[in-house]
Amino acid sequence: MANITSVGVIGAGQMGSGIAQLAAVNDIDVWLYDTDSEALIKAQNSISNNIQRLLSKGQLSQEKSADAVRRLRCSSRLEDLHSVDFVVEAIVESEQVKKSLFSNLDKIVKSSAILASNTSSISITRLASATSRPCQVIGMHFMNPPPIMKLVEIIRGADTSEDTYCATKCLAERFGKTVICSQDYSGFIVNRILMPMINEAFHTLYTGVATKEDIDTGMKLGTNHPMGPLELADFIGLDVCLSIMKVLHVGLGDDKYAPCPLLVQCVDAGRLGKKRGIGVYDYRSAAADTGKSPRL
Ligand SMILES: NC(=O)c1ccc[n+]([C@@H]2O[C@H](COP(=O)([O-])OP(=O)(O)OC[C@H]3O[C@@H](n4cnc5c(N)ncnc54)[C@H](O)[C@@H]3O)[C@@H](O)[C@H]2O)c1
Repeated sequence: MANITSVGVIGAGQMGSGIAQLAAVNDIDVWLYDTDSEALIKAQNSISNNIQRLLSKGQLSQEKSADAVRRLRCSSRLEDLHSVDFVVEAIVESEQVKKSLFSNLDKIVKSSAILASNTSSISITRLASATSRPCQVIGMHFMNPPPIMKLVEIIRGADTSEDTYCATKCLAERFGKTVICSQDYSGFIVNRILMPMINEAFHTLYTGVATKEDIDTGMKLGTNHPMGPLELADFIGLDVCLSIMKVLHVGLGDDKYAPCPLLVQCVDAGRLGKKRGIGVYDYRSAAADTGKSPRL
């Protein structure tokens, strides 16, 4: 496919806003779409602030930063994406919701456009089956936060073409990322390994083996991880972690992937992690986490 000059990003949350920023600072026109207009405003402000920070650190010139801000357009009308070359979907981790979006997108975007999903675990082959262009559907899994993390995991669905793979790899490399490639099995590479570790950390907490602080410190200092697994779960979002565990459980058919009841309870209680101000840890005030946080 010809050089990608415009990208549509769907979902203006943690991941979508970071992906939109990456595209805009790498000279690509971006349409950022979300059904929630508040999410769009928040994303636009956060991207502008981040670009400003890159400018003040000397990592982006005045001209480039002004250009990046100009390239970003926000919309709550999916039809505005009709002319983009490439779409990256980053909405809620639900197969049903993503499939419905892919089916709508397929009718709106031009026939040559590639449809990529940032899904953490959902089958690309099944998302592709909701479209009339399965050879142009692919997984493009950014890590959180997308502007900082060096990796993009590309997932080839059963029918993904070589052209689609090459165009996606080329785009990720334009963003300065290192690419790894996975076949389309639940959790792909990174989450297949990471999420059972996070789930096990919840079991360790649930069964009273240790405190949350000792579990995190153990993994940070004992295995050289930059963040402990519970802290990382809060950063990713406990709802996202739970969705991925459910996909691993069903997709791989092994009870070793059953979500820990404590993880389920946190999500039921709306303690979704840093984005909600509370998850395993309480971020609302430093004092609130000294013994008064929910029983964990
Ligand atoms: N959070 C992470 O660390 C992480 C890392 C890699 C991949 N992912 C994946 O990225 C995707 C998004 O995760 P996130 O953490 O950014 O979620 P988020 O909750 O921060 O943002 C999701 C956004 O999607 C919007 N949305 C929901 N349904 C929509 C629809 N039908 N149409 C348009 N917009 C819709 C919501 O309004 C929200 O703004 C998920 O598939 C997740 O698994 C997340």
